[in-house]
Amino acid sequence: MSEKKATITLQPGGRSWDFDVLSGTEGPDAIDIRKLYSEAGVFTYDPGFLSTASCHSAITYIDGNEGILRYRGYPIEQLAEKSTFIEVAWLLLYGELPTASQLEEFRNIITHHTMVNEALLRFFEGYHYDAHPMAMMVGVVGSLAGFYHDSLDIHDPRHRDICAHRLIAKTPTIAAACHKHNIGEPTMYPRNDLSYAANFMYMLKGTPCEEYEVDPLAERALDLLFILHADHEQNASTSTVRLAGSSGANPFACVSAGIASLWGPAHGGANEAVLKMLEEIEHAGNIDKYIARAKDKNDPFRLMGFGHRVYKNYDPRARIIREVCHKVLDQLADSNNPLFEAALRLEEVATNDEYFIERKLYPNVDFYSGIIYRALGIPDNMFTVMFAIARTVGWVAHWMEMVSDPEFRIGRPRQIYDGAPKRDYVPLEARS
Ligand code: SDX
Repeated sequence: MSEKKATITLQPGGRSWDFDVLSGTEGPDAIDIRKLYSEAGVFTYDPGFLSTASCHSAITYIDGNEGILRYRGYPIEQLAEKSTFIEVAWLLLYGELPTASQLEEFRNIITHHTMVNEALLRFFEGYHYDAHPMAMMVGVVGSLAGFYHDSLDIHDPRHRDICAHRLIAKTPTIAAACHKHNIGEPTMYPRNDLSYAANFMYMLKGTPCEEYEVDPLAERALDLLFILHADHEQNASTSTVRLAGSSGANPFACVSAGIASLWGPAHGGANEAVLKMLEEIEHAGNIDKYIARAKDKNDPFRLMGFGHRVYKNYDPRARIIREVCHKVLDQLADSNNPLFEAALRLEEVATNDEYFIERKLYPNVDFYSGIIYRALGIPDNMFTVMFAIARTVGWVAHWMEMVSDPEFRIGRPRQIYDGAPKRDYVPLEARS
């Protein structure tokens, strides 16, 4: 029972109800309104869930005003500098940094599950050559549900682990196969001697015709981008996975639902949208025109890669990734490319413009990630797929946390009904 209380009084009438106020380790308190409807007969209204805590979670903590992001308590800045994606995956799944033997065993498990069933590769034959990779990811990752019947008891921790390992291991293989289908090249099989990030680059860019060496800077940049994108609290796609999983649905199908949500340009699709925007801007000379459009309420144009639902300060991931972006541009890309010049100019102008400062619209992680992916030679339509590879770890960690939560129950939001009041059926002949 909480010492902290909140009282809701309904006017007219003046009836009041007291509710517990819950506190976590950090962050805002929450009014426990679970009994509100049964006691007061009213709902709360919070479209977009701006003020709603949907669950308890111990995985990721964000403070939007302070620009804080921590995975299991570890600041993202420290993990970015000192950890690897595989180690961060273990941390997010199991809550602690792994010992050396745990890390080695986990790395081996993931490495030895990167191949997919040969029958799964035949799903690609059904897609038109120019299908968007995210459309194929939704379909093919979801189809994993048709292959594994040996680990479907979501209440069995061992089965949950097996699902998690298969998803984390196979998503890069499926992702690279999407691109190979787009360009008509043969699918590359994973190599067990490569790191997670290097293996993906090898499967994406390699061909059976010659050796393909992954550039160490590209490998490091990719591993860092995977760390930064691995989890982010109850974002739209993670909340989608949780809601889908709350019915007890197949975990592969739930992750497919998360991929579908991530695809939207307001969410993970923003990195691809950033490059489309920069190409529309063309060169730094047009920046002022587009800044004006972004401010114009009558113009639907928004600066892709700017703003965030939670961060009203600099996205800490953007701060980290900005350095890597400039390093990759210097070392791996044609830094005279007008597109990269436009990006750097846009960053400078927008972050000093009163409209954006007043609305706390800073560059977010997607502003820089798209530029780095382009500089690494990754096709634009694969940018959100890169995000999905990394976020699969966060989706699976939240799914595991939810299904093992004693308060686990199906999610079922209500509504404010604005439709027609009760009315009687009108026979066809009587309708005008
Ligand atoms: C991700 O939730 C997560 O954690 C997501 C994510 C994750 O890791 O999972 O961090 C990943 O999705 C990052 C966000 C990527 N999306 C984009 O870059 C798309 C562009 N950004 C916007 O669409 C927007 O900023 C959102 C969707 C990110 C946030 O929208 P909000 O919180 O609903 O903000 P809002 O629409 O209420 O905007 C507040 C004001 C408005 O102006 P006013 O009505 O107050 O005058 O800011 C303006 C908006 O018009 N505004 C923008 C803008 N974003 C908001 N104006 C110009 N350009 C923009 N990008």
